[in-house]
Amino acid sequence: MIRKNTSQTAVSPVRSEAEQVFLPQVGLLALDRQYATLRHEIRAAIERVCDSGRFVLGPDVTDLESELARTLGVPHAISCASGSDALLLALMALDIKPGDEVILPSYTFFATASAVTRLGAVPIFADIDPTTYLVSPSDVKRKLSRRTKAIIPVHLFGRTADMDALLPLAKEAGVPVVEDACQSILSTWHGRCSGALGDIGCFSFYPTKNLGGVGDGGFMTTTRDDLAAKLKLLRVHGMEPRYYHQVVGINSRLDSLQAAVLRVKLPHLDAWTTARQNNAARYVDLFSEYDLNRHITVPEDESRGRHVWNQFVIRISGGQRDALRTHLSKCGVGTEIYYPVPLHLQKCFAHLGWGVGDLPETEKAALETLALPIYPELQAAEQATVVGRIAEFFHAPHLRRSDESRSLAHPAEDSPLQGPHYLRTMKAVGRADDVRC
Ligand SMILES: Cc1ncc(COP(=O)(O)O)c(C=O)c1O
Repeated sequence: MIRKNTSQTAVSPVRSEAEQVFLPQVGLLALDRQYATLRHEIRAAIERVCDSGRFVLGPDVTDLESELARTLGVPHAISCASGSDALLLALMALDIKPGDEVILPSYTFFATASAVTRLGAVPIFADIDPTTYLVSPSDVKRKLSRRTKAIIPVHLFGRTADMDALLPLAKEAGVPVVEDACQSILSTWHGRCSGALGDIGCFSFYPTKNLGGVGDGGFMTTTRDDLAAKLKLLRVHGMEPRYYHQVVGINSRLDSLQAAVLRVKLPHLDAWTTARQNNAARYVDLFSEYDLNRHITVPEDESRGRHVWNQFVIRISGGQRDALRTHLSKCGVGTEIYYPVPLHLQKCFAHLGWGVGDLPETEKAALETLALPIYPELQAAEQATVVGRIAEFFHAPHLRRSDESRSLAHPAEDSPLQGPHYLRTMKAVGRADDVRC
């Protein structure tokens, strides 16, 4: 079990309920804002599909697949029912069998590992780099064996794993690479998109992803014709032609409704990604205005490619993460812990024999990291609120103001935080509805 954080912290006094009423709320996500901008197009697309009576696969799905392939610069994009299925189908296409070993990080969403265990294969968990939170190539190297049949780097939080180091390792070992790109659509590595770097890339359309549907969905990418053919067969029960089954596959098709909605959204993905990048840069700028270095580590950008910031995850040292999260929650700021229990310590994997201390950096990250709101429609003033509340928790003094944030609303500018300047500025940026007063 992971140690529980019991340390006492310098929490600022909790506000009374009456005072909280005046605080602006900043949710971790606001999917309604994106929908509001595309409402008419999305409804028209849904109606078109309903009128057509083609609900599974069909022309919208085929068109979406072509558009995704073009966008990501790969010859094949094959849709399926979820990112979890994409990972399972990828390993099935690579003939992963019971007893085979697959190396993957423990610091990831559950689906990365469950795809392995559902095939009877054995997940071999590798530790992470403490700065990037991405799988450590040196630990992957240590864990390679004759039984290794695949490596799954996860491009966590929107940043591509260190493919300069991982691809040569895989090549030397003669094992395929399945990229878990569920959080990293449009991220790049030396100019090439994630999903186009290994043998198969796996993506998710879960609504919180950078390209999210109105339900579940996913897709796979590959540059290999043989794998594309296998993936297409496996997602339809191995059926070709109708009612003739070549192999045992699964039922994992994308709904036409999802495809139609995703086709409305895809042309906006690049601009949404740029907005996420801008938000990340603004956070870095805002954090630098406070004396928070002792307490907070902000995530770095990636110099070898595009970081698409599906999450903005800070590290809080000194055992104060959970108390900070409680404080932010009381202030109306939404946060999330990705991930509180690493996969090697999950109950369902206890039989695999992993224990506390086996992956020290992973276990430390699980205790210290916290994701802040980063979605494209997030307002500058809302980011200033988030950072201001964090500074307030640590009693961190305001050091300076950068050029960019000079024009932003800034909670620390007024004392108390919900002072008149702040309310005025929130109205000025059109978010007066968030100010509950
Ligand atoms: C890293 C990672 N892998 C796999 C998945 C699974 O995707 P889905 O939720 O579409 O099944 C997710 C999504 O939550 C993810 O973040």
